[in-house]
Amino acid sequence: MCGIVGYIGKEEKKSFLLNGLKELEYRGYDSAGIAVLKECEIQAYKATGKLENLANKTSNFTSEDFGIGIGHTRWATHGKPTEINAHPHWGEYSYVVHNGIIENYREIKENLQAQGIKFLSQTDTEVIIHQFEKYLNEGVEIHEAFTKTVSMLHGAYAILIITKKAPDTIFFAKNAVPLIVGKNDKGEKFLASADSPLIGYATDVVYLEDGEYGWLNKEDINLFKKGEKQSIFYKKLKEDKLCAQKEGYRFFMEKEIYEQSSVASETLMGRVKDSSIALDELEGFDFGQINEIKICACGTSYHAALTSAYLFERLSKIKTNIEIASEFRYKEPLLDTKTLFIVISQSGETADTLEALKMAKNSGMKTLAICNVDNSSIVRLADTTILTRAGIEKGVASTKAFATQILTLWMLSLYIGDKKGSLDKETLKSEVKALAHIPSVLHVKDSQHEKIRRLSKRYLHGHGFFYIGRDIFYPLALEGALKLKEISYLHAEGYPAGEMKHGPIALADSELFTIALMPKNTLYDKTKSNVEELSARDATILAISPYEFELADDFIKTSLQEHPMSEFFEMMLITQLLALEIAVRLGNDVDMPRNLAKSVTVE
Ligand code: G6P
Repeated sequence: MCGIVGYIGKEEKKSFLLNGLKELEYRGYDSAGIAVLKECEIQAYKATGKLENLANKTSNFTSEDFGIGIGHTRWATHGKPTEINAHPHWGEYSYVVHNGIIENYREIKENLQAQGIKFLSQTDTEVIIHQFEKYLNEGVEIHEAFTKTVSMLHGAYAILIITKKAPDTIFFAKNAVPLIVGKNDKGEKFLASADSPLIGYATDVVYLEDGEYGWLNKEDINLFKKGEKQSIFYKKLKEDKLCAQKEGYRFFMEKEIYEQSSVASETLMGRVKDSSIALDELEGFDFGQINEIKICACGTSYHAALTSAYLFERLSKIKTNIEIASEFRYKEPLLDTKTLFIVISQSGETADTLEALKMAKNSGMKTLAICNVDNSSIVRLADTTILTRAGIEKGVASTKAFATQILTLWMLSLYIGDKKGSLDKETLKSEVKALAHIPSVLHVKDSQHEKIRRLSKRYLHGHGFFYIGRDIFYPLALEGALKLKEISYLHAEGYPAGEMKHGPIALADSELFTIALMPKNTLYDKTKSNVEELSARDATILAISPYEFELADDFIKTSLQEHPMSEFFEMMLITQLLALEIAVRLGNDVDMPRNLAKSVTVE
């Protein structure tokens, strides 16, 4: 996820901007840039890769005395992580940095291009600066020009603009991604995406709300929402940097669980239309040539793949095989050029998945990567990539990456179904509606988290956990069990609910904990019978369901969702939080569990 910083004051601008960006490194980035405006001159620098590269480029640049500056770390979503696509972007005399996605950038860009305006980058961001300057060049007053520009933008954004036309002012706007304004008693003003860059500089801060925009100079801040001037309430800034990076959560994993609603919106942005799916990455791809899908992945990504097989067969009506990448490599698989080969990887660096992809490429198959990290080895190798846009994931136990993989695969199954003509328009429309509802399903409810926290104390012992479910809830059971074993070190297995009677039920006694996923929309009665069989053998049952279940020892009630995928995501959240709370009670290092690595680049 991108990070932004801004500065107004007399000190060396470069040092706050570079130090501030350093503090935002934890959000992930692949390029960075700054622009400083002093005495009507703007100097801008950009570099790909680590911040050291930007620091080297700016080593001879100093900017004492009064001036203003903006900085940015970019996590590529539209366009490759190149220097041209790095921020700031500029027009004739103004510079912009932006975090988020401008959903309607295409319309704005086409309109500006039709009027002869040239674009340098592939980003959505560049439209902002050209639109702003277009208004200025037409003679619109500067504050009005900024207000009009912001009102045209749909999507998520934190934006900072500086311009030679107002050399003491930073224009800012915020919607759906964070932006904070800070000040101190030396007359300096600051802007940042999070608290951590401000610590040690600002003393008081304002956390902007969605829809707010305005302008800031050394004297004051003018804040508006829907054209109305807003009052400003400063708060004292906290002083613990690591705590600030975790944004108040105890662990990065917890923060990432809570972020799922907003990253899901980013994943869907610009891709979910009124009644269709737009995947620009696949433009020109001929699905008529494809009669099968094969997916390779490892760990959590493998569970996303297993879930997607139900969606591809049901919605795209295309035969789908899933393979664990490390198994696929040595089985001498029969590969067919009419099969679309998909790899799924959060990091894009997993050695087994990468090698599987190489085998597919060598056999002449069409390859597609579903990945969270642009420019990773897998992205560079695959013919095409759909980025999941989860932002950097720091917790070793994957949460938000999984959620965004599932959303991406669901969109892909609808897209292929539509292209192949195997999905009727009515179903497509209702699926698209269900997709758009997921970000709200992913909001963590405080009362539910608290209930899970209290329940967790009963699940710290026993001789094992069975997570059970049917259909798409079977791979979710696998993922729930994986989360628990990764961070609690307790033995847990995921199992198809209907398969328990064929062996594992022999383990049932009161010390066997069964986490039963019992959704209302998918085989409820069948799953219920399977859970009853376990209960009859005295297994301890934690039922997760919208329906009360009288045989459950413990019960977590979910909402009455209309779509199985809504139930899937709601239950996913619960299993993530359950694993987290059990691990916390056991005193484990949740973000860095023993023996595990975030990215496994060896066989
Ligand atoms: C490691 C991580 C897992 C992850 C797996 C696949 O084992 O600990 O959390 O699911 O690799 O990683 P990838 O980056 O390819 O999704």
